[in-house]
Amino acid sequence: MYTTAFLDLPPLLTAGGTVRLPGSKSISNRVLLLAGLSEGTTVVHDLLASDDTHVMLEALRVLGCAIEQEGDTVRITGLGGQLSVKQADLFLGNAGTAMRPLTAALSLLSATQGGVFTLSGVPRMHERPIGDLVDALRPLGCTVECTGQEGYPPLRLAGGTLKLDAPIKVRGDVSSQFLTALLLALPLVSQNQALTIEVVGELISKPYIEITLNLLARFGIAVERQGWERFIIPQGSRYQSPGEIHVEADASSASYFIATGAIAGIDKPVRVEGVGAASIQGDIRFVEAAQAMGAQVTAGPNWLEIRRGQWPLQAIDMDCNHIPDAAMTLAVMALYANGTTRLTNIASWRVKETDRIAAMATELRKLGAAVEEGADYISITPPATGAWQHASIHTYDDHRMAMCFSLAAFNPLAPTAITDKPISVRIDDPRCVGKTFPDYFETLFQVVQTNPDLIPVIAVDGPTASGKGTLASALATRLGYQFLDSGSLYRITGLLATERNISLDDAEGLEVLARELGATIPLRFEHEHIWLNDRDVGEAIRQEQIGQAASKLSAYPGVRQALLELQKAFRGLPGLVADGRDMGTVVFPDAALKVFLTATVAERAERRYNQLIQKGISANLDGICADLEARDLRDRTRAVAPLVPAADAQKLDNSALTIEQSVETVLGWWVEGWPHVIAGH
Ligand code: DC
Repeated sequence: MYTTAFLDLPPLLTAGGTVRLPGSKSISNRVLLLAGLSEGTTVVHDLLASDDTHVMLEALRVLGCAIEQEGDTVRITGLGGQLSVKQADLFLGNAGTAMRPLTAALSLLSATQGGVFTLSGVPRMHERPIGDLVDALRPLGCTVECTGQEGYPPLRLAGGTLKLDAPIKVRGDVSSQFLTALLLALPLVSQNQALTIEVVGELISKPYIEITLNLLARFGIAVERQGWERFIIPQGSRYQSPGEIHVEADASSASYFIATGAIAGIDKPVRVEGVGAASIQGDIRFVEAAQAMGAQVTAGPNWLEIRRGQWPLQAIDMDCNHIPDAAMTLAVMALYANGTTRLTNIASWRVKETDRIAAMATELRKLGAAVEEGADYISITPPATGAWQHASIHTYDDHRMAMCFSLAAFNPLAPTAITDKPISVRIDDPRCVGKTFPDYFETLFQVVQTNPDLIPVIAVDGPTASGKGTLASALATRLGYQFLDSGSLYRITGLLATERNISLDDAEGLEVLARELGATIPLRFEHEHIWLNDRDVGEAIRQEQIGQAASKLSAYPGVRQALLELQKAFRGLPGLVADGRDMGTVVFPDAALKVFLTATVAERAERRYNQLIQKGISANLDGICADLEARDLRDRTRAVAPLVPAADAQKLDNSALTIEQSVETVLGWWVEGWPHVIAGH
């Protein structure tokens, strides 16, 4: 995964293929708690791996649940409503979705069965209010003590005597999570009477309460809802494990792929797995909004397939109050619409991770759109013909800003784009997507395609032992780019030639071999491993005599030609760093940045010498020097693709630089050169 402060998205042209999205956080932690309270074993599939779910699992383990985890499947044997551990100190990090329902459940359990529990978290957790929940639990007879500041964690829960005859009152206008906590926990004490919860104040975030009710039903508890003011838990409710349960994928995360399909699912659909028509998440109604803009959607219970329908997209005027998070995706889809799109009733955008109305307006304007904003609305008119601008998109530490703006990379498809002038989109601080979707961009790159000419290449050429492999692979890692070590292809040819007794003088035989490698032999690079069919040749090709063989056979034009297409095929999203001798001159003459390393023979010989000594191989410095000089001469003077810097290459003498200094120098050039000139455009 990239570690640079930015991610450059090449212009994208089509989409198609299947994505599996990470599980919903809200569903994951509710399901874990319900499984932990149930009798018997629940197998939870597709659990979201995140800090919050980790904390909940740990708490359940401490409380005595048996938990076995394998990948994103977890087996939980629940407590069946009986405390097996009566004293525990639970640390809950910053997970509100663990703190609130565990407070409710453990207060009730300790009041009925005895026991003392403390619940604490990181400092930020101790600033997040829980008073409304405490105020609901104390009148029931639970002993809940705020050991720091009143109304905030840490909490100490220590027994009590329950009185359950009166309705249980909870405020619903600050957070719906307190009501959720009570709904999830109160069935524990419903043996002798039905329990009524009354909501004080106008309940917010109703879709989240629907998720809670839905999941309770999956665990055998049928809550009766009277409007949004009163909820009744029937007498004798018992948590019954459904056996197996799948956590739905996050519906808000799905919105980016629904949009991708609507914009670029031209020949094939984009298929989203893990969430569909049977979803219990409010944001699934984004599908209707996308359809209103022209998306063609087919749906199964837990999948969606999206194609482009109307094009350009239909501009809409829509009240988005029911899908506040996913509606941000509509604002970026509006760049591809046939007029002005207005999204209204979105005042809550102003108080999210950032002021999302202001942020959205600022960044859309950078791309050339005309945007009007008000206290609770935004309207977007796409850039006029030719008015699209390269933009470096600021993301305000808001995961949704980063994910939404990736859709601007489809700009060549916009009706107002000038086809041969696609613009590049730079996303600042791309790792902010980690909040809900750490692999967002990697997932996106799996279902989008573009013309290889539009994919940026950094070529790193230089003589033997100049450190270009190390530099290039470090650059690729930092940028999250594909990596091609072209020398390894010549080396593999050398290895196979040796094994098959093909003479290094047999130009024709070697060419046939290289063609076979290029066309039919499956080859996979994985760090220092190179998989040839099922065999790792990473080490074998580094032998000195294989290097010699590679150097010799690489002088044959037929061999070079045979390996050309294979090398070009490495040009994949989001970009490529390729190292070798002729990356900037022959293979990728249109590379956006060409680096040519010029370390002296003496310096290179010393590096090679040290490498060998470190590996425990005896070596002779003079011999290495002579060998490098001979190889340099052969590489420089061969008839085809000799080792010369491309006319537009930037030379880097890395003799006195550490690897990190070289990487920083080249990244500096890369940032400076943005937006990069891309072949023919
Ligand atoms: O970079 P290396 O030492 O792994 O390369 C092995 C040989 O392959 C080298 O001696 C020359 C040849 N080569 C080439 O001719 N063109 C390239 N792009 C890369 C390597």
